[in-house]
Amino acid sequence: ASLAQLDQTVPPSNRVQNRDAPAAHTAMEKFENTADTDPAIGANRDWGRRILQRSATSTLGASQLADANVTDAQSLEVIVRSTAAAGTAWGERDAESRAKVLHGAGNALEAARAELIEVMASETGKTIAEGDVEVSEAIDFAHYYAERALDLEALERAVFVPSKLIVVTPPWNFPVAIPAGGVLAALASGAGVIIKPAPQARRSAAIMVQALWDGGVPREVLALVDVEEGELGTQLITHPSVGRVILTGAWETAALFRSWRSDLPLLAETSGKNAIIVTPSADLDLAAADIVKSAFGHAGQKCSAASLVILVGSVAKSARFRRQLEDAVRTLRVGWPDDPTTQMGPIVEPAAGKLQRGLTVLADGESWLVKPSQLDDTGRLWSPGVRDGVAAGSEFHLTEYFGPVLGIMHAETLDEAIALQNAPDYGLTAGIHSLDPSEIEQWIDEVEAGNLYVNRGITGAVVRRQPFGGWKRSSVGTSTKAGGPNYLFTLGNIEPVFEKP
Ligand code: ALA
Repeated sequence: ASLAQLDQTVPPSNRVQNRDAPAAHTAMEKFENTADTDPAIGANRDWGRRILQRSATSTLGASQLADANVTDAQSLEVIVRSTAAAGTAWGERDAESRAKVLHGAGNALEAARAELIEVMASETGKTIAEGDVEVSEAIDFAHYYAERALDLEALERAVFVPSKLIVVTPPWNFPVAIPAGGVLAALASGAGVIIKPAPQARRSAAIMVQALWDGGVPREVLALVDVEEGELGTQLITHPSVGRVILTGAWETAALFRSWRSDLPLLAETSGKNAIIVTPSADLDLAAADIVKSAFGHAGQKCSAASLVILVGSVAKSARFRRQLEDAVRTLRVGWPDDPTTQMGPIVEPAAGKLQRGLTVLADGESWLVKPSQLDDTGRLWSPGVRDGVAAGSEFHLTEYFGPVLGIMHAETLDEAIALQNAPDYGLTAGIHSLDPSEIEQWIDEVEAGNLYVNRGITGAVVRRQPFGGWKRSSVGTSTKAGGPNYLFTLGNIEPVFEKP
């Protein structure tokens, strides 16, 4: 069967029906809530197996990458100049025609859902359910930025100056949604775009770009350029024709880019060390579920992931809560994505460096509530870990590990918990579980993070509903949030128009 036919076998309950609905959540929640009871999921499992059986030998994206392989400075110069020239013409088209192309791109992403899930699973180990949500997010970006392009038309043209050319450098951990978001926003703003894929997720980016081309994005306006990191990468990032670089990745990468060109116009979302506070007033059942989802979704490899949980007062002493957390973590189904019942997949590369330490080395006073272990000899499959007794100021408190390990900290008061939560250099996501309005109010006033979540997990920001971006070292350069109303204004080099809530 062709992939298009396989796609037809996805139960309608797992498909995105309404572009205005928060699609990312709809897909995920339906999968999670019905996996064990809904007979239709049987068909879905079968669909997942068939896709993943192919993925081990998948060559999806290889031909696009062969075309995109740029190996000398002169060829790169030609691509930069021609995409910038095409970008100028694209920016002169009216917003309505750009919006139409973006809606077409959204529909093409939907048509490519099966291929996108397959290629993400094969390159990054993302599970079927996670890949499904991610495709939904990319589709949401297309339709959302199409609408926002029309906002630009309402402005005096003189104030809005589209860049001729925007470069998008995405991470490997959201290899479809994040590059799609950057590319679609840049196109909506009237710029030409060059996307340089993450080395670990080149084919995912290639299939995503192919879908956008198939949906009507002119090829000359959107170029896929697969240069090696090194001289050619530096040439691309620092090129004077580049009006903006949209980077999602490590803070160190943003610092490196800035060291190459100090006035680089950067819009960068970078790194996180995120915590969820649980106070004695919280609904502890809900808190446990949200913590596990936030810490171990995509094996903790999200900038938004919960890396710490800070238990306040009696919660820290609650044996019941501890047992609940322990049980929830121990019963996560860990495996490869070729089993669609897998809840936590592999890490992208064998654990090394700081992640290896995070998964194995206890510091003074720490103990394992759940000890992680390496499950096979690939070095990529780990069971999730939870360490207890993480001390203020310790390595675990302050370091982003980017993997399946969560630390528990204790605080006597909410003041102390907020100080622990604010201590890392980063400020991307933060959560609190509390049913006391005065605690919530205090927390919102004092916490230092871009995305705040009350009585909800801290990953999975929904386009339009939860614009996404950070504070402190979680953003470098301009920090306007992706999936929010000001993003295109930033790309058009004008001040935000919509007020912060
Ligand atoms: N936008 C992604 C999330 O919210 C990173 O989890």
